[in-house]
Amino acid sequence: MQKIPLVDVQAQYAPLRAQLEARFSEVLESGAFIRGPHYWAFQEEAAAYLGVKETVGVANGTDALVLVLDALGIGPGDEVICPAFTFYATAESIVRRGATPVFADVDPDTLNLDPEDVAARITPRTRAIMPVHLFGRPAPVDRLTGFGLPVIEDAAQAFGAPGVAKLGTVATYSFYPTKNLFCLGDGGLVATSDVELADRVRMLAFHGSRDKTDFDFVGYNSRLDEVQAAMLRLFLPQLDAWNRGRREAAARYAELGLGELVELPRDEPGHIYHLFVCRSPERDRIRAALAEAGIASAVYYTTPLHLQPALRFLGYEPGSLPVTEAAATDNFSLPLWPGIPAETQERVVDVVRSAVGVGAKA
Ligand SMILES: Cc1ncc(COP(=O)(O)O)c(C=O)c1O
Repeated sequence: MQKIPLVDVQAQYAPLRAQLEARFSEVLESGAFIRGPHYWAFQEEAAAYLGVKETVGVANGTDALVLVLDALGIGPGDEVICPAFTFYATAESIVRRGATPVFADVDPDTLNLDPEDVAARITPRTRAIMPVHLFGRPAPVDRLTGFGLPVIEDAAQAFGAPGVAKLGTVATYSFYPTKNLFCLGDGGLVATSDVELADRVRMLAFHGSRDKTDFDFVGYNSRLDEVQAAMLRLFLPQLDAWNRGRREAAARYAELGLGELVELPRDEPGHIYHLFVCRSPERDRIRAALAEAGIASAVYYTTPLHLQPALRFLGYEPGSLPVTEAAATDNFSLPLWPGIPAETQERVVDVVRSAVGVGAKA
């Protein structure tokens, strides 16, 4: 029985192997590993791709958030509204700055921030709103900008989703190896058309300096490595085709009748399916059957951020974010990557069908 992984990143980069090796050799020959030519070129190419004036390559997506919060002057006494149904780093970055995450609930159809709940949580101390483009689905940034506060788009899961990074004040990305645009290790990016903000982030990421001789701020050491930038320059031109491949795979799951068995992620043209996250009250039974058949699956944020031990000091009780807590109990993801074979998807659907019973709607 051939095992089916949740994602197959190696299948994505296999066709580029010769080019990747050549690039790697070139960087080795050059001896330039920090802020070399690929680092600067990738930042320009990423800005052009995203349709923003500037990008800053940083060490990872978590640092990207911390640096942006710092550059915006957000710290102790300030509140930032964000979802609790997201990866821990979203809120961790706020706490790392000494500021307070204020969790708003998510929309049950999209699992992205619910603008009405955000509105209800704004106080005189609110300094920013941090939506997450969850699982590759664009969050309603157009509705969040209307509150007159900076909007920090946590776009770690959504490189290439249309519209993302254009409406908010600034967007942050992660190049963790399973992301839509990934590198071969850790990497991150800050994208913005606010040139002063970009300049400040760039300095903060470089010890608060322009030249490592004069230090204007107390900063960080957080840079995208030259080797990673070199790899990213080969991956970026593939991204649109990869994201199309993700959308095609999601459409195929629907064609195969998966929607009669579990609740599918609602499709919309901008969704680039970083993950294919379904919902079912029978998820544990389904996952056990998949595991038995050698098929990987995963669940996300089963303890949402407001209930995580490290954030209990914020005082949220179970029941305080009902839509988030419901999603935590019934979400699960199925294998999806650009170019996933049709037979693989058929096998997945067959196993889900036998687990829930033919024709049963979860
Ligand atoms: C929504 C979200 N925010 C932030 C991060 C942090 O990115 P990194 O792992 O590159 O620090 C991730 C990914 O890991 C993420 O999914």
